[in-house]
Amino acid sequence: MQYQCALITGATSGLGESFARQLPQQATLLLTGRNLKKLEELREELSKNGRKVEIFPADVADAEQRKALAEWANGFEVDLFINNAGYGFYGPVLDNSIANEEGMTQVNVVATTYLTRALLSGMVERAHTNHRRAGMIVVASVAGFMPLPCFATYAATKAYNLHYTEALAEELKHLPIDVMALCPGPTATSFGRTASMGKEFDTKAASADDVVKLALASLGRKRICVPGLRNSLATCLPRLFPRRLVVWLGGVTMRRNRPVQG
Ligand SMILES: NC(=O)c1ccc[n+]([C@@H]2O[C@H](COP(=O)([O-])OP(=O)(O)OC[C@H]3O[C@@H](n4cnc5c(N)ncnc54)[C@H](OP(=O)(O)O)[C@@H]3O)[C@@H](O)[C@H]2O)c1
Repeated sequence: MQYQCALITGATSGLGESFARQLPQQATLLLTGRNLKKLEELREELSKNGRKVEIFPADVADAEQRKALAEWANGFEVDLFINNAGYGFYGPVLDNSIANEEGMTQVNVVATTYLTRALLSGMVERAHTNHRRAGMIVVASVAGFMPLPCFATYAATKAYNLHYTEALAEELKHLPIDVMALCPGPTATSFGRTASMGKEFDTKAASADDVVKLALASLGRKRICVPGLRNSLATCLPRLFPRRLVVWLGGVTMRRNRPVQG
């Protein structure tokens, strides 16, 4: 990993925090998320060996804060962008609040699109000038491969992340930048709790550190990284079976994640 300056969104927890911890020492870290206290703790801890760590608290669901974040990040020479901030919310669409449905699309879709466009030109230009490669990881999900009843909006936002990233990788294939969609299955982070998932989710969860380790090793080699055999098999279902059957199966699986009441 030759990167000199990495921007990580959603760095305050889970996969984002693990990316921050696993990136090599030479890379300056630009960390963002809403939780200022956690950002400050990370800055203090990770800068102990003399590494440069900068933080910028921002809610990427908010257009003004997204813009301010992009302007701040463009003040550095970012050569690795890890677009990781995101969340899901379990439940049938009609039971979910409009705020949650809108929030998911703002964070998972709009912020991804906005920040990518705002950062990419500079990243590619610098990579040309410096005769190095830049990198970008968009954290999508195995849920992006199929429609998921009871996780409909989240799965659709992750399908967007996946398709967008794959198309981008093809568009940029002759330029000095590696673009990859990371598509984890259930992973042990705050995600399950935020999404109000039931206990079933945790029993299948992979470790965040393992997922991130594989992602970093795969950047530059793959366009899509799906950690774990079970998840890789799940991504094949839509190609093997009729769509209606796949959606039904997705609904059966998701209903097993229903939170236990009381
Ligand atoms: N864990 C899984 O099972 C799993 C599986 C597939 C894909 N993913 C994807 O992995 C990514 C990381 O999630 P995680 O598993 O690490 O969950 P997590 O521990 O809950 O972390 C989510 C991160 O996103 C940030 N975030 C959420 N809403 C935000 C907002 N409005 N503005 C700015 N930052 C925001 C959070 O920071 P603040 O709270 O500080 O804002 C936090 O750092 C997400 O895109 C998720 O969809 C997770």
